[in-house]
Amino acid sequence: MTRSSRIPRSEPARQQTRRLMLGLFLWGLLVGALGYFAEERQSPESPPQSPTVVVALIARNAAHSLPYYLGALERMDYPKDRIAIWCATDHNIDNTTAILREWLTAMQKYYHSIEWRPLEEPKSYPGELGPKHWTNGRYEYLMKLKQAALNFARKQWADYILYMDTDNILCNRQTLRLLIAENKTLVAPMLDSQSAYSNFWCGITPQGYYRRTAEYFPTKHRHRLGCYPVPMLHSTFLIDLRRVATKKLTFYPPHRDYSWPFDDIIVFAFSCKVTEIQPYICNKKRYGYINVPVKPQQSLEDDHLNFVHLMVDALIEGPVMYPSRYVYLPPRHPDKMLFDEIYLINLVRRQDRRERMLQTLYELKIDAKVVDAVDGSALNSSDIKALGVNLLPGYYDPFSGRTLTKGEVGCFLSHYFIWKEIVDLQLERSVVFEDDVRFEGLFKRRLMRLMEEVELVELDWDLIYLGRKLVNPSQEKEVDDVRNLVIADYSYWTLAYVISLQGAQKLINSQPLEKMMPVDEFLPIMYDRHPNEEYKKHFPNRNLMVYSVSPLLVYPTHYTGDPNWVSDTETSTIWDDDSKKTDWSGSQKTLKDSTDTRHAMRSASRDEL
Ligand SMILES: *[C@@H]1O[C@H](CO)[C@@H](O)[C@H](O)[C@H]1NC(C)=O
Ligand SMILES: *[C@@H]1O[C@H](CO)[C@@H](O)[C@H](O)[C@H]1NC(C)=O
Ligand SMILES: *[C@@H]1O[C@H](CO)[C@@H](O)[C@H](O)[C@H]1NC(C)=O
Repeated sequence: MTRSSRIPRSEPARQQTRRLMLGLFLWGLLVGALGYFAEERQSPESPPQSPTVVVALIARNAAHSLPYYLGALERMDYPKDRIAIWCATDHNIDNTTAILREWLTAMQKYYHSIEWRPLEEPKSYPGELGPKHWTNGRYEYLMKLKQAALNFARKQWADYILYMDTDNILCNRQTLRLLIAENKTLVAPMLDSQSAYSNFWCGITPQGYYRRTAEYFPTKHRHRLGCYPVPMLHSTFLIDLRRVATKKLTFYPPHRDYSWPFDDIIVFAFSCKVTEIQPYICNKKRYGYINVPVKPQQSLEDDHLNFVHLMVDALIEGPVMYPSRYVYLPPRHPDKMLFDEIYLINLVRRQDRRERMLQTLYELKIDAKVVDAVDGSALNSSDIKALGVNLLPGYYDPFSGRTLTKGEVGCFLSHYFIWKEIVDLQLERSVVFEDDVRFEGLFKRRLMRLMEEVELVELDWDLIYLGRKLVNPSQEKEVDDVRNLVIADYSYWTLAYVISLQGAQKLINSQPLEKMMPVDEFLPIMYDRHPNEEYKKHFPNRNLMVYSVSPLLVYPTHYTGDPNWVSDTETSTIWDDDSKKTDWSGSQKTLKDSTDTRHAMRSASRDEL
């Protein structure tokens, strides 16, 4: 009894409990599973794929720019399986077809699809002056190609079509995404060039010609940033084919009311006008580059040299152009031009500049010898004295009133040791470059022509400036029978110059180390154009024969106050005191564009000395 009373529930009751618990357990499972499936249903939607884009690639005689064009295209940060390439090439006398074939073969597995339309013959248009001449036949053929690409994109139901000329290098990898994000029917990335040229017009005359407007330069120079409505885009632009208005857009045939010049870009601008599509140019970023077209009678070689200039300028500001990894890039063959040696002065700790200059010189086909600069900031005042360096009595910087810096000592010694080597090795003609040089177009060709003419008239010369800061440009006398050469007046900087054996000898003979001043002040003393009479007294033989190219062939990469400006000469400690740190941030010597006001200021400060 007791036992039964201790066991309150009967056996069946216990089974009932178990069943209940099992039920609860199963119920829990069911609820859990339902919850699980419910959660599954709430998981986020997958993102849509990127819009589809047809890239219209129309190439003619573009062998020199294609490796960089294709390099930029293959690096574009956009899914390749959402891009179809429509590629045509024709009328080539260079290797364009082979390069495209090589690239398309390697890339076809990555892109959604490739449409390839090569035309091997003929190699030229009837009546053309050269491969860079635009005849009506060529305009018409190009319009038809652009129209064929457009028809193809429409047939594919592509969302966008991107037209991109083969000398337009879109090295900003975000360009396509950024343009799509603008959400415009017709939009272009503003492309930078070596000149005022770009891929848009701000104005168009009633006859369909180019009209310069007040907005052009503020846009081109990025003094205003944004996406602006313009009447004309060319060379590179993106069309949103999903927009209704684009259904009537055409490249060919021209609209029936068309009376403007027969030129593919103007025909297209007219088509935009009649279809009421507003083109926009965006300059918010640096997207890439456009090569300035050469004149109709110029050669492919001229076009190539322009392109090289564009490429080496890109190394300064960026984005940098990189060649395709999938096409053969013919090697360049640098030489010493007509010189015995070409020196490049570079501080070991300025590796970036060394690489940039070596890359630049290679592209310009100039073979230079790197000289490790004397690092002034690594010298202490006793090292400097041990080298026999002493300050020119009474020397002060004309602008800041400071004395010599260690950087200036290092710079002077770097040039001095080169002059010594020239004398030791008896080098008749040499070039010296500093490492912050921006080259003018056709640099090599122009320098070689100059030296040939100098030779021809048997000019007696010691030094020829290739780049400098002119103090009084109007007063300089031109040299007879040599084009683009003047007798140098007072100038600053030692960016780049040509120097003869005789010139180097004269500079060494003046024993400049024991009365040192910045090297760019020393040279004008040696050719007797320095305004300071006191300084000159220390150098009795001021008979250096100095000329300058005019216009100049090189400029500094950056000026004081530019975002990327760095000076190793002007911002360091003073020459004979290791403890005195300075906060000099560059003198007015390195400011851009000397204005008349600044000339006046300079003479005033000179007079005070
Ligand atoms: C032309 O291009 C092809 C493919 O890139 C290359 O193999 C060939 O060497 C090039 N020929 C010349 C003359 O540059
Ligand atoms: C794009 O522009 C259209 C009008 O042209 C507008 O209806 C649409 O909302 C815009 N899309 C985005 C993502 O801004
Ligand atoms: C200057 O540097 C040298 C090594 O370059 C060193 O031997 C010398 O002691 C230093 N002198 C002073 C005053 O710091």
